[in-house]
Amino acid sequence: MVNHEFEAVIVGAGGSGLYAALEASKGARTAVVSKLYPIRSHTGAAQGGISAALGNVEEDKPEWHAFDTVKGGDYLVDQNVAMILAEEAVQAVYDLENRGLPFNRTPEGRIDQRRFGGHTRNFGEAPVRRACYAADRTGHMILQTLYQQCIKNEVSFFDEFQVVDVILEGRRCGGVVAVELATGEIHVLRAKAVLFATGGFGRIFKVTSNAYANTGDGPAVLARRGVPLEDMEFFQFHPTGIYRLGILISEAVRGEGGILRNNEDERFMERYAPTLLDLAPRDMVARAMLTEIREGKGIRGDRKIDDYLHLDATHLGRETLKTKLPDITSFVQTYLGVDPAEAPIPVQPTAHYAMGGIPTDTHGRVVADGQGTLYEGLYAVGECACVSVHGANRLGTNSLLDLVVFGRRAGIHIAEYLKNAPEPADGAEAAEAAQRWIETLTDGKKGPHGGYIREEMQEMMMSDVGIYRNGEAMQRAVETMKSLRQRYAEVRVQDTAKQFNTDLLELIELRNLLDLALITAVSAENRKESRGAHAREDYPDRDDEGWLKHTLAWLEGDEVRLDYKPVDTSVWEPKPRTY
Ligand code: FUM
Repeated sequence: MVNHEFEAVIVGAGGSGLYAALEASKGARTAVVSKLYPIRSHTGAAQGGISAALGNVEEDKPEWHAFDTVKGGDYLVDQNVAMILAEEAVQAVYDLENRGLPFNRTPEGRIDQRRFGGHTRNFGEAPVRRACYAADRTGHMILQTLYQQCIKNEVSFFDEFQVVDVILEGRRCGGVVAVELATGEIHVLRAKAVLFATGGFGRIFKVTSNAYANTGDGPAVLARRGVPLEDMEFFQFHPTGIYRLGILISEAVRGEGGILRNNEDERFMERYAPTLLDLAPRDMVARAMLTEIREGKGIRGDRKIDDYLHLDATHLGRETLKTKLPDITSFVQTYLGVDPAEAPIPVQPTAHYAMGGIPTDTHGRVVADGQGTLYEGLYAVGECACVSVHGANRLGTNSLLDLVVFGRRAGIHIAEYLKNAPEPADGAEAAEAAQRWIETLTDGKKGPHGGYIREEMQEMMMSDVGIYRNGEAMQRAVETMKSLRQRYAEVRVQDTAKQFNTDLLELIELRNLLDLALITAVSAENRKESRGAHAREDYPDRDDEGWLKHTLAWLEGDEVRLDYKPVDTSVWEPKPRTY
């Protein structure tokens, strides 16, 4: 075992982790631990933009942005948090610009802005150009910019270290336990403050835009140590993934004028969202697509779930594709052999974003219950967290914004907290537990193959806890996830080598995925209404009377215990959602 001491440890090197590290490192010895090389983090896959009401190309206001966020989230958004997001967005984008981010420009030299789903002017009148962008590599540019700034600030990086446990004594955090992938050795990183920024867990589903690494390591590690997870039933399907592969085709294609069409070449969104059309929020577009496919209007038209639809960008012209959408042009050419200037792109909805996660306050501090009790020295930000700003459905471009706004706020809070923080809790128990577990996985005994368990989980989550849901299917999913977790208890690596053992890494990740799949399925089955991305065929209506509340879920052995916390509706009264 190797021991390290820092003041702050950040787990995850995407946009929110790096922003927090940047701020924390101004006053504290800070380390970033990542299972990847930092600039390979999934923030780099965010394509289309980061929203902020700069008003550079048409009138816009933070208040309109906050309203769109609340309405887009089907009123499950904490409205005070949406106000912070929208108000701090403007400065956040200029800060990124000042740190060197190469945004696309207007002819006058200002940051250019484009349309994105659900973003409107004047409380829903018409789409507004609010997304600031660097071609279709906005996340990639944010990652490069922040990583360079962290290096300048002398942040220590532990690249390719998989975190397997958190050190908690009661509600006080004391660090993390990690496996160094290069050697297989256990490392204990003690710290007075720990921030989890490990990203999403789209890999619980079969078709996803998420990278292989998106296995929900932070939420799962914390859930096993008694931390609740919030609003896990809300998982967003992005309308346009590359057919069968799920790789993201940015909403920016529709923001630039791309159109979704069915097998009759009809612009079907005219029937579902007459004002915003293809730029309605993602939950509505994804549902409309699945409805078209179910009604036989998918491109092959044989009512199979894996039919596809067309995203038509042929009328945008080569110049727009080259200057504003170069990456997706090349993805489509590489993976489908399609030139988007010449032919429509075959697309299907793809599991994209977890609205739920580790509950936090607006400084990233982890919340322990429905009364707002806080953990000490434990923080979370970004997709792995739930600051309740996306509610039941996130708007496109609000995720990059969430990373920088709340990453920055958490980093500033950590620096302040560390001035008077108590000594970190002792890590011996967590380190020994991790060591014993790894020894069991690698003891050379024969066990079931993790690959089959993963496949079964992904298939079932896709079919039974996907875009459309019903009670019977979700109960089946809950039972299956429980039995897959039991099978996992017998699982062993085939390869017992110490160095770069990807077999072991995949089993560590699989445990996290199974735990989160179970919590997702239980939370979804429990919510007896339809709201945002949670669309139940047996409860098709939103029920504000019964369900305008956040879910909290505790993993307790084979079971999941549920409770609730209120939604902040201090600014706008919940209304039916039309676009
Ligand atoms: O479509 C996109 O470019 C994705 C952006 C997002 O999820 O915010």
